[in-house]
Amino acid sequence: MQMSRPDRYGTVAVSIHWLSAILILALLGSGFRAANAMDAATKAGVLRFHIPIAIMILFLTAFRIVWWWRFDLRPRPVAGLPAWQERIARSVHVAFYVVIFGMIASGAGMVILSGAASAIFGLPDARLPNFTDYAPRAPHGLGGFLLVALLVFHAGAALYHQFVRRDRLLRRMWFGG
Ligand code: HEM
Repeated sequence: MQMSRPDRYGTVAVSIHWLSAILILALLGSGFRAANAMDAATKAGVLRFHIPIAIMILFLTAFRIVWWWRFDLRPRPVAGLPAWQERIARSVHVAFYVVIFGMIASGAGMVILSGAASAIFGLPDARLPNFTDYAPRAPHGLGGFLLVALLVFHAGAALYHQFVRRDRLLRRMWFGG
């Protein structure tokens, strides 16, 4: 297992990054699907996928923080990057953590306040509540759109590095080397 070095991310950091990306895309897809589902059975079925994935991202993100904090070394910023771009990159990374934890808290709040868990996971004829009646639903919806915006910005910046600056940034966040 390779640890991170000043010039690149290590095996664990790279694995966490790409696994988080997959889980977040699955959460966004299933979240929007659940919100737009026409019937309760479909919504409950999608939420039986959405909620366990959200619990996985909670543990993965907590592990990621402990990993950076206690064990791994943070690579140096890309050489020659203007300070303002580095500040924006760092702010986007912090924003990811804030929005992810905000989504988990608001999602959990929605399910706890509405008592929907039994309808989602248990009793077959239990009725799903109308989630919009509960206060955490609005920040959960807003956070979903914010997360899409952050992802587009983050991926756009990586592609700008790769194809405009041609500094092979993506290699730092991939396996091997
Ligand atoms: C990082 C974690 C999460 C992400 C990225 C996420 C994402 C989303 C998105 C994008 C939506 C659709 C919002 C809209 O269209 O306005 C949604 C809906 C929903 N999410 Fe999450 N979610 C997360 C965590 C959770 C958790 C932890 C729970 C519950 C324990 C949860 C429960 C729900 C429910 C019940 C809905 C459907 C609301 C409705 O039908 O009106 N989510 N989620």
